Order: sequence, then structure tokens, then C-alpha cells
Amino acid sequence: MLNTINNNLFYIETYGCQMNSSDSEIIISILLKKGFYLTYNIEKANIILLNTCAIREKAKVTIINRLQYLKSLTQNKNKIFGIIGCLSKIENEFVSKKLVDFSINPNSYKEIPNIINYIKQGKKINFYKLNTNKTENYENIYPFRQKNKVTAFLSIIRGCNNMCTFCIVPFTRGRESSRNPYSILTECKKLYNNGYKEITLLGQNVDSYLWIKTYNNHKIHVNFAQLLNLLATHLPFMRIRFTTSNPHDFSDEIIQSLSRYSNICKHIHLPVQSGSNKMLKLMNRQYTREHYILLIKKIKKIIPECSISHDIMTGFCHENEEDHKSTISLMNQIKYHYGYMFMYSPRPGTYAYRQLPDNVPYEIKKRRLQEIITLQKQHSYFHMKQYIGHIQEVLIEGCSKKNNMYLYGKNTQNITVVFPKKNYKIGNFVYVKILDCTSATLIGNIIKYIN
Ligand code: 5AD
Ligand code: SF4
Repeated sequence: MLNTINNNLFYIETYGCQMNSSDSEIIISILLKKGFYLTYNIEKANIILLNTCAIREKAKVTIINRLQYLKSLTQNKNKIFGIIGCLSKIENEFVSKKLVDFSINPNSYKEIPNIINYIKQGKKINFYKLNTNKTENYENIYPFRQKNKVTAFLSIIRGCNNMCTFCIVPFTRGRESSRNPYSILTECKKLYNNGYKEITLLGQNVDSYLWIKTYNNHKIHVNFAQLLNLLATHLPFMRIRFTTSNPHDFSDEIIQSLSRYSNICKHIHLPVQSGSNKMLKLMNRQYTREHYILLIKKIKKIIPECSISHDIMTGFCHENEEDHKSTISLMNQIKYHYGYMFMYSPRPGTYAYRQLPDNVPYEIKKRRLQEIITLQKQHSYFHMKQYIGHIQEVLIEGCSKKNNMYLYGKNTQNITVVFPKKNYKIGNFVYVKILDCTSATLIGNIIKYIN
């Protein structure tokens, strides 16, 4: 028995976005069901999986370095190395350089146990070629989740049909495929019964969620707003979040759902990428600056307290100072609560890589990035200061990493709040009076326990 366990111990490291974190939980569940055992100790593991990200060149370099380091640590120890996730779909390099034993893409994780067993039998698989049209929803798999957590990620749509010219995701994750709403509801109910208080619905573009089924010649549609309504009514005490939204697909119906249900959190992550129409066109974003601003105005009119965050990219092909200034003026106009900012990094296979020149020098990309980061910090601080003196409803998520006498949690707008621990516990909803802030965190005192 001990021998079987020792032979079947796997370790997994996750890079990239929340979708990847959610996928790792699915992969762990798949492997546990097939007689493998999870270990958090890499030394003990004989199967090492890296769940990778391909979104920027830097992510790829990090993983190659990590892989080389791990291989050097485990030399001659007969461990099985697998690359899974987004890089596996586009990079054969790992396999050709004999850095890994197998590589498998995000639509085929159910194959992992078979592949490992195959390799164990001494059969060498260098690149496991899979039918790329195949798309797994994993909807019958209840993901493995760490204990003592009260928030969970849940994938509702996989892949992406929006061909933004800079983005590798449609190539790594394939076309969109929406998960059965009833399987989502069942998983959410199970989470609730297991003590979870908040779920985040995940997808590269949640707004284009669309589930279609034909019953007795009748077509049934469930779109994203309807899915939100379904979950919010059946789980009135569960907080519901979602990410990522696409301005092109964000409908009035979704805004209505957000405003109707108090348990749907008032935060929208709405990547804009650039404030210049010329850049949006080159990026094939399918909306204009004017459309985006109008959308935000609509959201703010119906849900004034809603926080908005962004993704912005600097230095995309042909971006000049005027385009950069348009981004800055858009940021000034919207004053986002927070955002994620990146320098453009050409990704092999994308339209931009093949057809557009990466013609903004690195130093300029970097300077523009720094400018928008500085501006965003000012805007975030501006928003944070407005909270001082006010009371926020917070779900306690854990112990503060900086000071274990403090707890942290989030308010509905997805802003982190820290406060002294006292006798409160993870999973409690509390009212916190805000006394101070930084540009990223609110600091306060609990004044009332809610549940
Ligand atoms: N280079 C830099 N940033 C990118 N993103 C997507 N593709 C690239 C790329 N090639 C950013 C976008 C996206 C976020 C997830 O990552 O801003 O919204
Ligand atoms: Fe997530 Fe995109 Fe990175 Fe894949 S490439 S891990 S989908 S961010």
C-alpha cells in the first residue's frame, strides 16, 4: 500500500490567472479519483505538474527557469514532469528539449491519469497529441478545494471567441463553451452547504455565457444575466462575483441583475486596454472609447456604488504619444477603483505577432506603463479616502499576512479591508468602520457582527 502511495504522489504548482487556479482544483480532483495522492512537498512527489500561463513572454520565461531549477534539484530521481495549462498548447519546446515527459492542453485534463500511467509503464510519450477540437467542460467534476476557505472560484465558460489581435487565449483555450447552468447551481449549493460564503464565476468573457439545449423541439437559452438571476435567487446568502467582463458583450440585462440582487457584489472588472479608438481598432476590441464611456455611465447611473477596475496595455503596435494621452484622459474621466497594467508582449501565433510590427521601443513602453501605474495609484487613493468614516460590510477571508493580529476581508466593491482580530472568525460577515487607508487597503475596526 505504502509503495502504491509513494509511486502515485503528485505535486502541482499553478501560474497565471484565476482560471488556472480553478483548473488546478479540477485536475487535483481528477487525479485523486484515479488513485493518485496529493502532496505539498515537492521532494516527496514523484509526479510534478506545472500549470502554466502563456499570456506574456515573461510568464513563459518564469516557467522555463522554474522547470530547469526543479529538474536540477531532482536529477536522476526518476520523477515524471508534466506541463499543463496554456503554455502546453503552444510550446513544443519543453518536450523537444526533453525538459518534460508530457504536455497537455486545458481542454484535455481528464487524460492526465492515463498519460501518467502510460509513462509509468515505461512507454515514452514525448508530445501527447490530442484532438484539438475536443472541449471538456469538466461539469461533472467537483473541484478539490483547500480547507478553511470561504470563497471559491467556479468556471462557467471556457475559451474565448473574441479574436483580440494581441491575445493568445483563443489559441491556448479554444472556442467558447458554456457550462450547464444546473450543474453550476448544484455546485454552488454544495459549496454553500460546505460553509462557503462567496463564489466568483470565472470565464475569459463571462458576459458571452450562453447555454442552449433543445427539449422536445424546444430551444432553451440561458444567458449570463439569467444565470446570475438563477444563482442569486436560489442562494440568497451567498455572495456572488464574476470576472472577466468584456465591454463588447456587457448587456443592460446584466446591469439590471446586479442592481436587483443585493448578494451580487457591486464590482465589475471591465478591461479597456486603451483609450484610443485607433488602438482599440488595431486590437480588434469591437467597441469604441465612446461606447465604453457610455457603458460606464449606464452602470453608474443604475448602480452608483459600483466599483470598476480595468486592464490596460501600453506600447501595443503603432501606439504613439497621442494614443497614450487618450488612455490617460480616459483614466482621468473614469477614475477606476483599481486596475492591472501591462506592457505589450508579442505572442507567437496571434494576428498582431504575424501582421503588426512591435514598433514601440521597450523604454517607451516602460515609461508609459509607469505613468499609468502612477496615475492609477492616485485614483485608487482618491477612492479609498472616500471610505474613511463610513461603515462597510465585510466577509472575513483570512489572517492578514503582514500582522497576524489582524484579519482581512473584502467589501462588496472587492476592496480589501483589514481590522484587528478580536474574537472574530473566517467566514463571519461583519460591519467595519473605516478609519484609515492606503491606495490598496482600507483599515478599520469591527463595530458589529452580522451573522
Ligand atoms: N501582452 C501584454 N498583455 C497582454 N494581455 C493580454 N495579452 C497580452 C499581451 N500579448 C493583458 C490584457 C488582458 C490581461 C489578462 O492581460 O490586458 O486583459
Ligand atoms: Fe489564464 Fe490567459 Fe494565462 Fe491562460 S494565458 S493562464 S487563460 S491568463
